[in-house]
Parts: sequence; structure tokens; C-alpha cells
Amino acid sequence: MEPHPLDVVVVGGCGHVGLPLALSLADCGYKVGIDDIDGVKIEQVRAGSVPFLENGAEELLKRLLPTGRLELASNPRLLERTQTVVLVIGTPIDEFLNPVRKVVQDCIDALLPHLSDGQLLVLRSTVFPGTTDWLDGYLKRNNRDLKVAFCPERMVQGHGIKELKETPQIISGTTAAAEEEAAKLFSGIAPELVVVTPREAELAKLFNNAYRYIEFATANQFYLIAKAAGVDYRRVSDAMKRNYPRARGIPSPGLAAGPCLMKDTAQLAAFAQNQFSLGNAAMLVNEGLVLHLCDDLRRRYDLSRMTVGLLGMAFKAEIDDTRASLSYKFKKALASLAGAVLTTDPFVTTDPELLALDEVIARSDLLILCAPHAVYRDLDFAGKPVVDVWGFLKNANVIS
Ligand SMILES: NC(=O)c1ccc[n+]([C@@H]2O[C@H](COP(=O)([O-])OP(=O)(O)OC[C@H]3O[C@@H](n4cnc5c(N)ncnc54)[C@H](O)[C@@H]3O)[C@@H](O)[C@H]2O)c1
Repeated sequence: MEPHPLDVVVVGGCGHVGLPLALSLADCGYKVGIDDIDGVKIEQVRAGSVPFLENGAEELLKRLLPTGRLELASNPRLLERTQTVVLVIGTPIDEFLNPVRKVVQDCIDALLPHLSDGQLLVLRSTVFPGTTDWLDGYLKRNNRDLKVAFCPERMVQGHGIKELKETPQIISGTTAAAEEEAAKLFSGIAPELVVVTPREAELAKLFNNAYRYIEFATANQFYLIAKAAGVDYRRVSDAMKRNYPRARGIPSPGLAAGPCLMKDTAQLAAFAQNQFSLGNAAMLVNEGLVLHLCDDLRRRYDLSRMTVGLLGMAFKAEIDDTRASLSYKFKKALASLAGAVLTTDPFVTTDPELLALDEVIARSDLLILCAPHAVYRDLDFAGKPVVDVWGFLKNANVIS
């Protein structure tokens, strides 16, 4: 018997972006194929379990599996049964902070035998500007005639299922037909479509992320200036923001990290031939915050005689993802300064060195809030000194 056709196949469909998208597409009625090279994650998802923290995803997955609208395989042959392919693989930067275009090319090379003329191929990863046109040309040079679109993902990690329904979807295509078909695909899940050219869409996505990263850097630099002046930044922040709408958007200071913001700022800097001074300054401020705090602690304490506890190893609050988490930069920097460094996180499951929160509090002389998970908010940490850049803790003995 011929296997049934699929409305869409998501390549990288077990990833942080791919899975919420695949589930959302299936939820609005599409028959969705999930192709992912990670066979372990495929098995996990097939068994009804989401491999990372994503609000609402597991309930949705459990509801969708019995409908038969989801098909999972670690096999690009799934692509042979659809007219629509969405690509959401990771797009890293290298040791020179430059994008690794080869990742996209290698993936396309592996998919080529399974792609066919007339298919819609939607690029959804965050890419270096020009990648969409390059992909279109690359397929043509390989004698393939596909409709190529770029429709970037802009969800906040951990809230993809909700945000996909609420966020306008940027649509672009290398031809009118590609644009039209991509718009049709996303009209089922997005509340609004914003149609632009591929180059505009690529820049819009990178500008969105770089702007957010610069906002965090601004708050971090304000914090450092206030701190150097011996002023409590929490009081300054309250004075700036309370009932003053123009300051409402200033974020709190804190460790600004994760797999996207710095990477995408670096991609934009590379695209701008390093003439992105604000972006480069933001990287220095955000990445430098950890070393600044370590230096400050080194001056105030004899760290070599102390045990330091790090609270929250995920890259941000309420998730389990440690990719590019600055908590680990802290851990590394403190390893050569402190007597011992202990780490804890209520969500992270991938780090065998993590200890229980109670043990970290009991054994530490000094604590540092790295990820402001809600569970920490009201604790007093047995009166021990705590570094809280975020201004997040309610009852702790905060020392900065
Ligand atoms: N994480 C976010 O919040 C977020 C938000 C917006 C955009 N993005 C962008 O989306 C893209 C994906 O990010 P992510 O966080 O989901 O990454 P991820 O690593 O969580 O997911 C990528 C998935 O692709 C799979 N994969 C890699 N190569 C493959 C191949 N050749 N065939 C099939 N599967 C393959 C991996 O196994 C993995 O499951 C990146 O470009 C990222 O910048 C991420």
C-alpha cells in the first residue's frame, strides 16, 4: 500500500523551533512529517515525550499522536511524500564569530536526492543575509526547480506554541509563487502575515535579535555604571521606570545569553563587515559582565577560601536549556579563583555535576543568582550573601 501523502515535512522537527512548529501545524489540521537526524529524540517524541521544556507542548503532542496527523522518522525519505518542506536546523557561528553556511549546504546536499521539482522549500532557521538567494541558486545549479521561501521564526524559547498563534509571521519568497504558497502555509497558524523580500526578511530577523541583545547590554552597562558609583541600581531602575511609559521597555540587567541573541548579533556584525559598533559593544558588555562580577568579588572576598554556589545554570529563567549559558562562563571563571564552585538548577537534566538546591545553599559561603527561576524568588538563602544582578530576589541578603 502507498504511504499517504503529507501536507508538510519539518526537517529538524525535534528541535526547539521545529517541534513547536510541527505541533502547531498538525494542530491546525495539516498532516505533518517530522524528520530529524537525532534518532533518540525521534523515539522520545514518538513515545509522547518532549525532549526539552516547552510550555503546552507535551499536552499537545499527546493529543495529536492518536490523530495520526504526525509522522516521525529519522529519514529524509519523508520528503518524497510532500509538496512542502520546512527547514529549521541550527545555524551556528564558528570560532571567528562568523556564520557557518556549510551547515545549510551539507543539509541540502543530504536532502537533494529526496527533493523534487515544484516543491515549496521554506527556510526557517535564522540565516546570514543572502542565504535564501544562495539556496535558490544552489538548487538551480543542481538542476532543481523548487520554490524557495524564507519565513523566520521569532518565538521566545519555551513559549513557542503560544507565540506562534500570536506573532505576525514574516513571509518572503524568491518568486511570487513561493511567496504565495508560503503565505498559504502560515495563514493557518499566524494571526497576521507580513510579506517582504527575502533580504528584508533576513535582515528583519537579525535586527530583531540584535536589538534585543543591545537592549540587554544597555541595562547591563547602566547597572555597571551605577555599581561603580556605589549606587543601588534597583532604586535607579525604579525611579526611571515607575509610571513612566517611555522607560517601560528597559529590561532588567542580567546574564544575556543563549543560543540566539549573541550568535545573531555576530552574524549581523559579519554581514556588516564588522561595522556594527553597537552590536560589538553589546557583545563586550553582555559577555564581559561575568568577568566584571568575578573581578568585583575577588576584590571583596578571599575567594580561594570560599565555596561559591551558582543558582540556575540554564541560559534564562524557567527553561532547561544550557546552550551558550553564561552560568557556565561564571563556573569556568570561578574555578580558578574560588576554593570550590557548586551548581544547581531545578530544570536542567543534562549536567551530572548539578547538586540539590538545599545542598548548594548549605555548603556555599557565597551565592550568585545566574538564572532567575521563580523558585528562588522568595528564599532567604539562610542569610548568606547573594549576588543578584537582576534585582529579582525578595528576601535574600543581596550584596550587589
Ligand atoms: N531556539 C530559539 O528560541 C530560536 C528562536 C528563533 C529562531 N531560532 C533559530 O532556529 C534555528 C534552529 O534552532 P533550534 O534552537 O531549534 O536548534 P535545535 O538544535 O534545538 O534544533 C535543530 C534540530 O535540527 C536537527 N537537525 C540538524 N541537522 C539536521 C538534518 N540534516 N536533518 C534533519 N534534522 C537535522 C537536530 O537534530 C535538532 O533536533 C536556528 O537557526 C536558530 O537560530 C531559534
